[in-house]
Amino acid sequence: MFAHPLADGVRLRTLEPWHADEFAAHLERAREHIRPWVGPSFVTETVDAAHATLIRYAEATAKDQARPVGIWKDEILVGGMMFAGFDPTGGNAELGCWLEPAAEGHGLITGAGRFLLDWAFGERKLHRVEWRCRADNVRSAAVARRLGMTHEATLRQAWLNGGIHHDKQIWAILAHESRYADVPAQRLS
Ligand SMILES: CC(C)(COP(=O)(O)OP(=O)(O)OC[C@H]1O[C@@H](n2cnc3c(N)ncnc32)[C@H](O)[C@@H]1OP(=O)(O)O)[C@@H](O)C(=O)NCCC(=O)NCCS
Repeated sequence: MFAHPLADGVRLRTLEPWHADEFAAHLERAREHIRPWVGPSFVTETVDAAHATLIRYAEATAKDQARPVGIWKDEILVGGMMFAGFDPTGGNAELGCWLEPAAEGHGLITGAGRFLLDWAFGERKLHRVEWRCRADNVRSAAVARRLGMTHEATLRQAWLNGGIHHDKQIWAILAHESRYADVPAQRLS
């Protein structure tokens, strides 16, 4: 219902269970592109399974533990970004993302990421947002860098996917490193 315009013809909206048909159609276009890089439970094959994913995120959102956002370009769902973990008590969150191939290379994820970081630091007063990716996921690491994150560590063989234990990078940005660093809190609320 509510949408945030990101660029000409591009809108961010909360991704909800009633988007299951669109989400499943998008996964048809994205599945093999994202499979090497995202958790296997996200890469579903049917509308029912896509619906179950969105229900899972809706339940976590209701508990303020996650926040999935879809990206619509020319009214087509082409990808998304989410707080896969969100802990307002501890002040931490983890941001993740994906796109179908045709949507790559236009800055959609970087734009969505800036919007979500502003929300996390500005409105929700979080302290730290993390980014985790396979160490050889060059495009994902480039987004983290563009968002102003610091590469903090590479965890050796820490992520099992497709039968292989991949090295995993951790990137993060702290509130004082964000563009909200010098803005008094009362001006953000
Ligand atoms: C990771 C992923 C989402 C990154 O997508 P992306 O298109 O590279 O990232 P963005 O949407 O931020 O776009 C950046 C690209 O658009 C270009 N661009 C154009 N306009 C831009 C703008 N206004 N701002 C920033 N970048 C812009 C950039 O130069 C860059 O292209 P380049 O890498 O060819 O130089 C995508 O590669 C993907 O879905 N991969 C598979 C799933 C995945 O890995 N998910 C992450 C798991 S950790």
